[in-house]
Amino acid sequence: METLKDKYAPYFKIGTAFENYDLVNADLIKTQFNSMTCANAMKFGCLTEKPGEYEFKYADELVKFAKDNNMAIHGHNYVWHNQTPDYIFENTSAEELIETLKNHVRILKDHFGELDSFDAVNEAIEDKSEQYLRDTKWKRILGDDYVSKVFRAIHEVVPNTQLFYNDYNESFPEKREKIVRLLKEMLADGVPVYGMGLQSHISIYGPDLDEIKRSIEAYAALGLRLRISELDVSMYLNNNDKDPEVKMPNPELMKKQADYYGELFKIYRSYADHIDAVTFWGVTDKDSWLNYFPIPGRRNYPLLFDDNGQPKEAFYSVMNF
Ligand code: XIL
Repeated sequence: METLKDKYAPYFKIGTAFENYDLVNADLIKTQFNSMTCANAMKFGCLTEKPGEYEFKYADELVKFAKDNNMAIHGHNYVWHNQTPDYIFENTSAEELIETLKNHVRILKDHFGELDSFDAVNEAIEDKSEQYLRDTKWKRILGDDYVSKVFRAIHEVVPNTQLFYNDYNESFPEKREKIVRLLKEMLADGVPVYGMGLQSHISIYGPDLDEIKRSIEAYAALGLRLRISELDVSMYLNNNDKDPEVKMPNPELMKKQADYYGELFKIYRSYADHIDAVTFWGVTDKDSWLNYFPIPGRRNYPLLFDDNGQPKEAFYSVMNF
């Protein structure tokens, strides 16, 4: 049977973000995907909790797996407001924090070698209308231009790595405008931003496909390369506790999901010239992070492979064109 990565080879890489426990599906991963992101293992806070102490064993296992199977490796991430060790922010000046970050990037480079691409900054834009940048420790210490500062600092250490800005709700018009403003300002100042990661945590209820098209166009118009970086298509409307519970199997919803996925990939293919990779956030429905977020224990079914690693209807609608 033809696989995702082969079918999409003329268009873009097909990635998956996974965890060490996902290696129970090693055969599925290596036959279907040709790009790997560590879903957690390369995050600042997953690598170090105390000054000077790094634990690489989780990331190492995933990197080895990717290399053994000729998968590209996309790093995730250097600068974020979550999963970052507190110690780096304690009693520090702006200059010292930049040095701490550069040192971290250097440690990763010495350990893994320089990766091809990396999310330099994750989720810096605020969701609330009245605010532009999210209030984070990075911003408080480094100032309002911190995103530019950290891109430059990281680039000094890993000049050959394609550095991405990565964010979610990136197809909501209001947030999209703020992201575009940020990227535009950075590009005008000569900041070494290579690409935009559209996380694409979306749902069978939307965003509208037209908004998705418009967003791809808006980011590509900046001259940036694009990655669809964390794709999953949730079964829920609001993604909060107001959603009626989804009981599976539910052929109607599975069909809706399959149709949405089909249309989505049609759009991605039509912009393939701009897109380096489309990466799913997970491998099978069984282990999707959406089974724990935003409501722990609420089942979701957002991916192309079911609990047993079997292709779903959505898989076929992505494959049949
Ligand atoms: C998620 C992981 O999948 C979870 O296991 C973890 O508990 C929280 O982070 N946006 C991102 C990812 O950029 O890093 C997040 O990953 C999902 C949302």
